[in-house]
Amino acid sequence: MLNEKIELNRLGVWQKYFIKPYDQESYGILRAGARLRTDNFLKDVRDKAINIDDGFDSASHCPELDKWVESETGQTTLTSLLEELQDLVKSSFELLEDRQTKTRQQLLPIGHDRWQMAKDAAEALRYLEMERPQGYKAAFVIPTAFHDLGRILEGWMMDDKNPHTNWIPHAQLSFLMLDDVLSQQKYQAIPKELKNHFLYAVLAHSYSENGQSYMSRAVQACDRMQLIGPEGIFRTLAYDVCYNEQAVIGYPSSKKFADELPILHDIHEAIPGYEYIARGMLENIGASHARWRQELHIETLAILMAYQGAEKDRNAHILAPKLLRDAQDVVREHRFCPESLDQAKSKLGQNFDHIYLLLSPKELLDEVVKELQRPAGAASLTDRTKAHFLSSLISLDEGERKSLCAMVRVAGELRKQQEQADLLVIERAMVIGDRLTQAIARPNLDLFVTTVPSNDVRSGLGADTQKKSADIFHRPEGFALSL
Ligand SMILES: [Fe+2]
Repeated sequence: MLNEKIELNRLGVWQKYFIKPYDQESYGILRAGARLRTDNFLKDVRDKAINIDDGFDSASHCPELDKWVESETGQTTLTSLLEELQDLVKSSFELLEDRQTKTRQQLLPIGHDRWQMAKDAAEALRYLEMERPQGYKAAFVIPTAFHDLGRILEGWMMDDKNPHTNWIPHAQLSFLMLDDVLSQQKYQAIPKELKNHFLYAVLAHSYSENGQSYMSRAVQACDRMQLIGPEGIFRTLAYDVCYNEQAVIGYPSSKKFADELPILHDIHEAIPGYEYIARGMLENIGASHARWRQELHIETLAILMAYQGAEKDRNAHILAPKLLRDAQDVVREHRFCPESLDQAKSKLGQNFDHIYLLLSPKELLDEVVKELQRPAGAASLTDRTKAHFLSSLISLDEGERKSLCAMVRVAGELRKQQEQADLLVIERAMVIGDRLTQAIARPNLDLFVTTVPSNDVRSGLGADTQKKSADIFHRPEGFALSL
């Protein structure tokens, strides 16, 4: 009892959310409160009572906010805000981990664990380095690194009686949790306009539409990098399969998706969902960051090609021209660009026959679970979650198992290269970044150092990645934030 009180005390303003596990009545109250507060906020945005217009370019148009952010008070306050958020995240994940160990119930959020949040922080630093948003806009790193706070509470509320289809939109929970932190007396000095930029960016991040401010679009540009490339396929597999009672991994044999993909919301199969995102990515801001996005797009195509390769005839449609229905219900034809497909082919290499192995469902489960749990801070999967995953693997035929094995192996290799690139971004931020940048990088450095074997980066295994990073990120004058 005493220990539980001490644990809860560490959660500061978040205590009230983590007092007890899921029950229908409190969850209903939480849902109503989340809807009310976020509806009111968005109404104020629409009515212009809250102004989040700041253009979609990296230049700052608000000298007053820049002045505050650049001041000693601004720097100190934002740095302590970051440190508090990071402490809260760490403590709340530890609480979930502890309860998961005791109850053997899956509570650590799959695909949105501490590792995922570290990846978000690394992507924020990469975007910062490449785009150099000016003045207060550089503070977008805060909502980018913490836009998924609500996933922690979502994990705490996981329960058989609370299926995935019943969950409160996690962006609303992120909004509540960040709003509670920002509303404390100690952050009174932060200008209301800046708080509103943070809150709007967090609330708007997961909508199927683009946000209406620079910060929200920057958050989305970074967040979406976790949906494509090698990180994206593992996250899709884990999220779609582990949380869906009737999980399907591949393409239904009925050729349901051979000619047309419906809106993403109506796709409940993991690989077709990944294909949809490769085809239907919304337009992101950031012309320099677009070079990194294109790299990941090529990797996404290589991963889909690996899947396709086991059964070329049956899977020919995966990269072929196809109709695509967008969130506004408009259907258009989509074609992958031939140059990108060629680049993906050469990335995959000529001789990849060795990736096409026929593994048993159990062997395939072991490979996938090992990769999902490999990075430091990744959620551990309970026996029950693994059993659920296994049952969806058992339903695959031999061709699909071969495809999935190839995909997992190619994506696993590319994922490790991406982690090396992320580590270099974080290390550079620690060396040449300012106080706030270092405050974002510091707590994530350990996770990346633990995840990436040091000899990979130094021995030449990571040489290609280092060269790629140097090409992309080289800035002769280094990068010093004006924050
Ligand atoms: Fe999210």
